[in-house]
Amino acid sequence: DRQLLGLKDLSAAEIESILKRASYWEAHEEKRIPVLEHRFIANMFFENSTRTRFSFEMAQKRLGAQVLNFAAAASSVEKGESIYDTVRTLESMGIDAGVIRLKPIGVLDELAKHVKVPLINAGDGNNEHPTQALLDLYTMKKQFGEIRGLTVSIIGDIKHSRVARSNLWALKKLGANVKFCAPDSMKAAELGEHAPYVTIDEAIEADAVMMLRVQLERHAEGILKSADEYRAQYGLTVQRAAKMKPHAIIMHPAPVNRDVEIDSELVEAPNSRIFPQMQNGVPIRMAVVERALR
Ligand code: CP
Repeated sequence: DRQLLGLKDLSAAEIESILKRASYWEAHEEKRIPVLEHRFIANMFFENSTRTRFSFEMAQKRLGAQVLNFAAAASSVEKGESIYDTVRTLESMGIDAGVIRLKPIGVLDELAKHVKVPLINAGDGNNEHPTQALLDLYTMKKQFGEIRGLTVSIIGDIKHSRVARSNLWALKKLGANVKFCAPDSMKAAELGEHAPYVTIDEAIEADAVMMLRVQLERHAEGILKSADEYRAQYGLTVQRAAKMKPHAIIMHPAPVNRDVEIDSELVEAPNSRIFPQMQNGVPIRMAVVERALR
């Protein structure tokens, strides 16, 4: 299967093979390796993005693909055209694959049934963000050698997070121990059977401490009462970070709400891998795009 809709249904072997291929691409010194010169890819973003959108484009251009960028705000979606009609329109023009980011959940699986070209999920609602979790795994693997046996804490707005879900499925498949930490208003009850919710002090005792962005744009009124209170109770403050294990790393998918879920001084601290995560997104997306098209 060349599409990538999520990691929940991807085998450990497939995940490992993408990570291995990303490592191959990362080791390539030439910036442009035109193996996809005659292939056309549309990046279809129905929700805003900086990292995912540009690292996909960087990955595609490094592989020599022809790139079409679609942004909903500048399209006929503004006139009421549906996601389905938009994707079918681009497909009818001859694209070979589509990268797609969507606000609603459940739409992507339906779309994939009706569209013949492979689709790559660039984030759908709070369901999955598979390439983010792949780059997170890749970052951890580079740091620790292997994922099996690691303890990874995912802290913050679990309820609204596709990053938490994709990481949960993949980390467990590869043998990591996952712990969650969140205020009650940001817990996803249905995930509790897959990973325990622990206190912030317990969560800090991990090999990788993954902070999540408080996703204000997805909140119903009043979930975040006070940013200062959130920081005091659930944020990675300088004081809390000092209690992390000496070998442990800080992660965050970004964008970051500085001084809310993580203190600004920690974003580029020596044990932070936040910018390396973004860098690793390029070889990961090269591997995923290549998988879709070759
Ligand atoms: N981490 C992430 O998905 O960032 P963007 O929303 O900027 O793509």
